[in-house]
Order: sequence, then C-alpha cells, then structure tokens
Amino acid sequence: KNIVILISGRGSNMEAVIRAAQAEQWPARIAAVISNRSDAAGLAFAAKHGIATAVVANKDYATRAEFDAALQTVIDGHAPDLVVLAGFMRILTPQFVEHYAGRMLNIHPSLLPLFPGLATHAQALAAGVAEHGATVHFVTAELDHGPMVAQAVVPVLADDTVDSLSARVLAQEHTLYPRAVRWFIEGRLTIEQGQVHVDHTT
Ligand code: GRF
Repeated sequence: KNIVILISGRGSNMEAVIRAAQAEQWPARIAAVISNRSDAAGLAFAAKHGIATAVVANKDYATRAEFDAALQTVIDGHAPDLVVLAGFMRILTPQFVEHYAGRMLNIHPSLLPLFPGLATHAQALAAGVAEHGATVHFVTAELDHGPMVAQAVVPVLADDTVDSLSARVLAQEHTLYPRAVRWFIEGRLTIEQGQVHVDHTT
C-alpha cells in the first residue's frame, strides 16, 4: 500500500507515522511527503529517511482550484491508497476532497465536534472545558467535520497555558494518528456511506 503525507510545517505527526511504519514494519510504504510550503521543517526529516519529497506552493497558483489540481497530479503520481493530512494548513476544494473520498485522513487538535478551525487549544481554555484532545477523521468537504475514526482525551489542568495544553495533546496525537493509519493500511478501518467501522477482531 502507498501512503502520501501532506504537511505545511513542523511535521511531528508525519514523523510519528514514518517512525511507526518503520518500527512496526507496516505492509505499506510512505511513497511521498508533499508540502505546500518550501520552508516546512518536516521535509528535511522525510528526505533524510529516503522518502520522496515535493513542494507544490499554493502561492504559485492564482486560484484554489488550480492549486488543488496541481497538488492532485503530484499526489496521484505516487498512486496513493491513503492520503494523510498532517498539519496541512489549506482548505481543500470539494472536487479534491471527493477525489480522495474514503481514502484521506486528517488529525485535528480538539475533541470534535468541539472547536473546529484554528487556535483549538485557546478555544478549549476559553471555554473552560475539563477535557480536551485530538480527533482523527475522514476528510469531507466541510472543514473539520468528517466522520470520526478515533479520539484521544487529555485533562485540562488549572494552570494550563496554550503551550502546556498543546504539548499534552500533541503527545497523544503521536500515538493516535499512527494507530489509525495502521488500521487503514491493514484494512480494518473502512467507511461506507459515511459510517466508519473499525474491525478489532484480529
Ligand atoms: C497538529 O496539532 C495537528 O493536529 C494539526 O496541526 C498540528 C500539526 O503539527 N492539524 P505537526 O506539523 O504534525 O507537528
């Protein structure tokens, strides 16, 4: 199976997926890591691990549709079974999302449906919730609203700041996301008519 990972920056979730794939010898290869920004720190890690990297810079395209079409061409050159969004900070067109329906995952740093969008940790602190976390979901056209696959929950502590809370959530993301990607690769994670199913029997 081929996995293509899309990033925009740090790439710590990408790194967690790459490390898990290697350590656990997944029946899959990370075929490419693609960024919309040439300065994404995660590109160096991927290259160092012998993974093909590419930059499709959104600023080089006049419209979102043209950018998404160019990105799709590069992604499809790697014949992906699964596209993994890992801190990919672009809103995607419905056409693009439809093309990868049922084979594109995202991780969002909140317990969806709470706090879609940006600055989720600040949103959680402002709301005064006792628990916060991260969600892996299939990507649909509505931002941060696709069918949910898995969540990790962390406590919100009295003296938390955005930094302390985001670090606690991120540590969970790094086990949650590789696990969900692995389920998909192993054929245990399926989605039919918007219904997610995870087979835990094997
Ligand atoms: C993570 O918090 C992820 O949930 C969100 O963006 C952040 C990306 O971090 N979508 P990294 O680039 O994986 O380190």
